[in-house]
Amino acid sequence: MFALPIENYQLKGLGERRGMEAGAVRSGELKAARRLAPAELLRGVVRREVGRGMLEMRGIEKRFNSSRVAVLTGISLEVKRGEFVVVVGPSGCGKTTLLNLAGGMVKPDGGEVMLDGKAVEGPGPERAMVFQDHGLFPWLTAASNIEFGLRMLGMRRRERRDRVEAALRMVHLGNFGEKLVHELSGGMKQRVAIARAMVMDPAVLLMDEPFAALDAQTRTLLHGQLQELWIQTKKTILFVTHSVGEAVRLADRIIVLSAYPGRIRREIRVELSHPRDFDSPQISELVRLVRTEIEEEVNRVNREMAGDEWKPAASAHLGDGFVDLGGSI
Ligand SMILES: Nc1ncnc2c1ncn2[C@@H]1O[C@H](COP(=O)(O)OP(=O)(O)OP(=O)(O)O)[C@@H](O)[C@H]1O
Ligand SMILES: [Mg+2]
Repeated sequence: MFALPIENYQLKGLGERRGMEAGAVRSGELKAARRLAPAELLRGVVRREVGRGMLEMRGIEKRFNSSRVAVLTGISLEVKRGEFVVVVGPSGCGKTTLLNLAGGMVKPDGGEVMLDGKAVEGPGPERAMVFQDHGLFPWLTAASNIEFGLRMLGMRRRERRDRVEAALRMVHLGNFGEKLVHELSGGMKQRVAIARAMVMDPAVLLMDEPFAALDAQTRTLLHGQLQELWIQTKKTILFVTHSVGEAVRLADRIIVLSAYPGRIRREIRVELSHPRDFDSPQISELVRLVRTEIEEEVNRVNREMAGDEWKPAASAHLGDGFVDLGGSI
């Protein structure tokens, strides 16, 4: 069995997160949740999780017909109820494939995916996905897009309407329900996509670079909103990104994948309490540390792909650590 190095990053003076019961919140979180979530916003719409959302991947192997080497091999990953896990790794290392396996869209060649002790055999409403491309239907309004999945479930009209209204308020788009997709900004479209996923009250939210196409300011806004939603609902979230800054802002735990074949190279716990102040020096310090951790893997992959010794500029020259390394990581 392959032993994983797990780094715990805890900066002096910051709260301990581990050891908390599922669904428990510290007083700071509670205050924020009260401030951000009037009770009626969530009542009857999205449950605050207590007993769902334990995602397990055991010994996953995946190879596509065309691939020379396995895309993913020996992947064993446990995402606990209410945990926010972020996956980073070089382009092509299998991050999207990992999410698709969790979502049941792709079947593993070996190993198993379990949600709350039950084998994942295919897509299901308890595992909602949000992609980089919002994937909204352009001929429907924001509200109708959010309502779509509920219609498919055969839910009654009145309940659908209540849920859609609450979901729109949850992403602070209460007045935008009747807008068509092209009338919304990029950030708003992603917020509708998140509302569409949340309205189904999934046990697990699977997010594949949902903010990658947004400008930095909008991204920061959405980081704040996602953090808020997560604190309110305690959904299990598995999130893929190319941005180390994004990972450190949001994650309880960062999984670094290596490429060709994709394996878990390292796990890093981010033991900063939530809600996080994204401008805090602790966040910047952690971004620097985590980037150093993964630069080695990025450089190795780049070297192998290019067949030469080229490597990206050292992180010190790349700004404040929130620079998205794009395809390099
Ligand atoms: N359906 C498929 N059929 C064949 N090959 C596939 C399929 N899906 C993914 N692959 C291959 O599997 C590898 C991993 O792809 P995947 O999309 O999971 O990577 P990724 O880490 O998400 O990359 P990126 O960061 O660029 O989004 C790639 O080499 C890709 O070409
Ligand atoms: Mg991908």
